[in-house]
Amino acid sequence: MLRQQDVGHRIVVRRIVGIREGRPLFSDALGELVELSETHLTLATAHGPLRVPVTQVHRAKRVPPTRRPTAAAVVALERAADEAWPAPTRGRIGDWLLRSADGWTGRANSALPIGDPDRPLAAAVDEVERWYAEQGQPAMINTPLPLAAPVGTELDARGWTARPPTLVQTAPLPLPAPSSVDTPPAAGRVELADGQAGAAGGQAGRWEKAVVELATAPSEGWLAVVAGRKGGLPDAARHVLTAVDQVRFAHGYVDGTLVAVGRGTVTGQGRWLGLSLIEVSPEARRQGLARQVIHELAAWGVSAGATRAFLQVEQHNTAAVALYQRLGFVTHHTYLTRVAPH
Ligand SMILES: CC(C)(COP(=O)(O)OP(=O)(O)OC[C@H]1O[C@@H](n2cnc3c(N)ncnc32)[C@H](O)[C@@H]1OP(=O)(O)O)[C@@H](O)C(=O)NCCC(=O)NCCS
Repeated sequence: MLRQQDVGHRIVVRRIVGIREGRPLFSDALGELVELSETHLTLATAHGPLRVPVTQVHRAKRVPPTRRPTAAAVVALERAADEAWPAPTRGRIGDWLLRSADGWTGRANSALPIGDPDRPLAAAVDEVERWYAEQGQPAMINTPLPLAAPVGTELDARGWTARPPTLVQTAPLPLPAPSSVDTPPAAGRVELADGQAGAAGGQAGRWEKAVVELATAPSEGWLAVVAGRKGGLPDAARHVLTAVDQVRFAHGYVDGTLVAVGRGTVTGQGRWLGLSLIEVSPEARRQGLARQVIHELAAWGVSAGATRAFLQVEQHNTAAVALYQRLGFVTHHTYLTRVAPH
């Protein structure tokens, strides 16, 4: 059976999905184990997240990785991601990074334990706890898996909790042309995953008039959308958003109204386009606006020299995971945001 050490590794699970004529029916699932609790395990599969009650598990075991990124590739991408989301207050423990931004977002307010902390692991975690106490903040550590699995084991022993897994996904640039991922608007389409309005009714043509503009600074409207989503915008948040040399803020307008936003950065020695804060107003969803925003940012990223795109998405955000999968993104690695007990 599986153990915590298997988290972050590729596994196959044989599930019992029913009983026919008194015999169990099995189904196999393959993916990366992102969470293992007493009651459930969660896999990041090629089709999105899959949560399996342990009572359904007939057998489960680790399988050899396919195309697993090297540790160096994970480190390089995590550093590019850190540059793309720069916390204003920073410290170091050897190679480990300490980051603080008035508590705005987990990423900018957590340690990144990659590389050599220059001291035993337990002493490094003690130092993280001390540094965050000095900032007056709860200590948090982002553990990319399986790279930082040993750190995770130390944090488990200290009773640190874990937020739901985040997928770090990548795709080669340029992205496929919109026409090759588009489907014609289906009249009266109603396959709604989250209760949003579909293309039915007289609104369909309205969204085709969307115009996406890329600006070097966010407008007040753009900031208001992001503040609404992230629960406010302290001063440190403006730094996180803007203190990157190569950054663009996508504004998607329909009839002069801002209905879609997004942010793109180019970091990691010019290689990586980072996509963040993609959001579309609820009434404008499922009309291709997120796709349009991403394509504009990707085209800019290519013109700025980026060869690959990355993004971070919470594994349970099924709409966003489906969107990114449609655009060719695959999971490069996952991370857990760990929080110290208080
Ligand atoms: C995720 C989000 C940005 C998608 O925006 P959108 O404009 O509705 O997306 P698009 O219309 O461009 O969708 C393109 C494709 O993505 C997939 N997709 C998008 N939303 C989906 C959903 N709710 N369920 C299933 N698939 C979905 C579909 O394949 C869709 O194509 P289709 O409509 O032809 O089937 C939007 O739901 C949103 O703003 N969510 C809240 C903010 C958020 O979670 N942002 C992502 C943070 S990482």
